[in-house]
Amino acid sequence: MHNVAPSLLAADFLRLDQAVAFINESEADWLHLDVMDGNFVPNISFGQSVISQVAKDCTKYTDVHLMIEDPGRYIESFAAAGAQGITVHAEACTHLHRVVQQIRAAGCKAGVALNPHTPVSVLEDIIEDLDLVLIMSVNPGFGGQKFLYRSLAKIRQAYDMIIVRNSPAIVQVDGGVGLQNAQKILEAGARSLVAGSAIFKADDPAGVVRQLKAISANPTALV
Ligand code: DX5
Ligand code: ZN
Repeated sequence: MHNVAPSLLAADFLRLDQAVAFINESEADWLHLDVMDGNFVPNISFGQSVISQVAKDCTKYTDVHLMIEDPGRYIESFAAAGAQGITVHAEACTHLHRVVQQIRAAGCKAGVALNPHTPVSVLEDIIEDLDLVLIMSVNPGFGGQKFLYRSLAKIRQAYDMIIVRNSPAIVQVDGGVGLQNAQKILEAGARSLVAGSAIFKADDPAGVVRQLKAISANPTALV
């Protein structure tokens, strides 16, 4: 069964209490928290202080996506702020293996994200150590962008690598995800759907979460 992770980036920042209450009451499994540093990506969002407030009230799993350069500098502080899972970008880490161990040592689940131009093969030597592979289906930095359909092939590649290597990781997909493409994404092998605009900008956000959860799809590995 897949999980649904609404991204707080698309919520009303003046009403974060309401956004968290909505997450808690909805069928959402995770809360996705997008951290941007204005360096790795051309946008700045929020950091540890906002996350620690949100995490205090959130009853769902806190899934922190770090779109920051050299994230190894901040793993412990995000864990202390209440992150339960931390995902770093392969492109932002010179010593990716070390950062993954650091995430584990901080007591969090470890994820690695890949930008649209980064091949899945960069995970060959680390896949067994991961809890999550995040396939970015837009260039990170902004919500509300169009899903890149090339990502479906990468989801499948990541899923097959996970099966062949007997890795505990799941595939998460982030960027332009909504009711129009979720079925295909799940059939390609994704187990976690991040959605910002599709949920928070909808007339009935709880209804969208319910519909995303209700999709039934059976990915079949190539092997
Ligand atoms: C993009 C972020 C996403 C973003 C997705 O850089 O990592 O999590 O919030 O937003 P939508 O679902 O609107 O594309
Ligand atoms: Zn994200």
